[in-house]
Amino acid sequence: MINIGVIGYGYWGPNIVRNFSGLEGAVVQSVCDMNSQSLNRVHKAYPHIHTTHDCGDILNNPGIDAVAVITPVSTHYELAKRALLNGKHVFVEKPFTETIAQAEELVEIAERKKLTIMVDHTFIFTGAVRKIKRLIEEKALGNLYYYDSTRVNLGLFQSDVNVIWDLAPHDFALMDFLVDEKPAAVAACGKAHVNGLEDTAYITVHFNNNMIAHFNVNWLSPVKVRTTFIGGEKKMLVWNDLENDEKIKIYDKGVEVTNRESVYNLRVGYRSGDMHAPKVDPIEALKHETEYFIKCITKGERPENDGHAGLRVVKLLDACNQSMKQNGQMVNV
Ligand SMILES: NC(=O)c1ccc[n+]([C@@H]2O[C@H](COP(=O)([O-])OP(=O)(O)OC[C@H]3O[C@@H](n4cnc5c(N)ncnc54)[C@H](O)[C@@H]3O)[C@@H](O)[C@H]2O)c1
Repeated sequence: MINIGVIGYGYWGPNIVRNFSGLEGAVVQSVCDMNSQSLNRVHKAYPHIHTTHDCGDILNNPGIDAVAVITPVSTHYELAKRALLNGKHVFVEKPFTETIAQAEELVEIAERKKLTIMVDHTFIFTGAVRKIKRLIEEKALGNLYYYDSTRVNLGLFQSDVNVIWDLAPHDFALMDFLVDEKPAAVAACGKAHVNGLEDTAYITVHFNNNMIAHFNVNWLSPVKVRTTFIGGEKKMLVWNDLENDEKIKIYDKGVEVTNRESVYNLRVGYRSGDMHAPKVDPIEALKHETEYFIKCITKGERPENDGHAGLRVVKLLDACNQSMKQNGQMVNV
């Protein structure tokens, strides 16, 4: 049985406590939040769980095996480091840390002490993404041409990071999971309209092969959109995460060049075949992810979304900030 302490019970923390509480191999022993109202919510939902305002009660408790850090980004490094130094496994929210150096240090401590770090890259545990991964591996889409994501909504404004660090970790983590080729460079443009942090941003990701990716991330959108287009030479796919039933649609559409003799005579044939919407596993991603965390700890396995994966994402986010400072110039990664 793995005893868990959760730090942070704001917007996302309740999902983490609910999922760990539902597992056979884990017990949530204690929840910490600086805010008394948050702790009242814990009391109401889980009267048996110990609550505290002092994270030291969790970090220094020898009875706790693993700590979930579900607090704002600016606190991840310090809390995760204290947990690791006290011999505890760590489940930490995305983005892993605020800086590359912090992420590297946490990875080093975990490896030295043989502890597990799992960074909550939630979407890679969705049924839709698992299905997309299989399609890509089976070459059903053919070589990939592009990955194009729109992730926009009104808010939630973060006080410590810009919209890229809030929303783009999802896309960078997804691409890290789905695509073998790793990004070579990024270019990002963004503007701050409200609180001094960029709330609207456009990111282009370049690869050494012919693939290209683009993310549109925005806290000032009148409607919520979570749509990703993945184009391949054989088929194209649209993943709309807000759809209930048909989250993924695969289009047998594409182009075929029939004559390449000269630019003037280039003949392009358009293929427009059937569309189908495969069934995807409807189970909540966090259920799979929290189960996987416990399995990795008990079996000593290294998670796909370990500290190294978190570090790769932080490096890309850092490159985006550098690019924004240089008015959107391409930054190598
Ligand atoms: N994986 C996802 O899909 C997903 C979704 C939303 C948020 N998140 C991530 O979860 C983290 C938290 O986001 P949120 O929206 O829940 O924020 P939030 O502000 O709603 O909640 C954070 C909570 O942490 C508490 N807190 C802060 N510092 C603390 C400390 N030192 N000790 C104890 N309690 C402390 C605050 O009182 C607050 O209740 C962020 O890293 C965010 O990026 C991930």
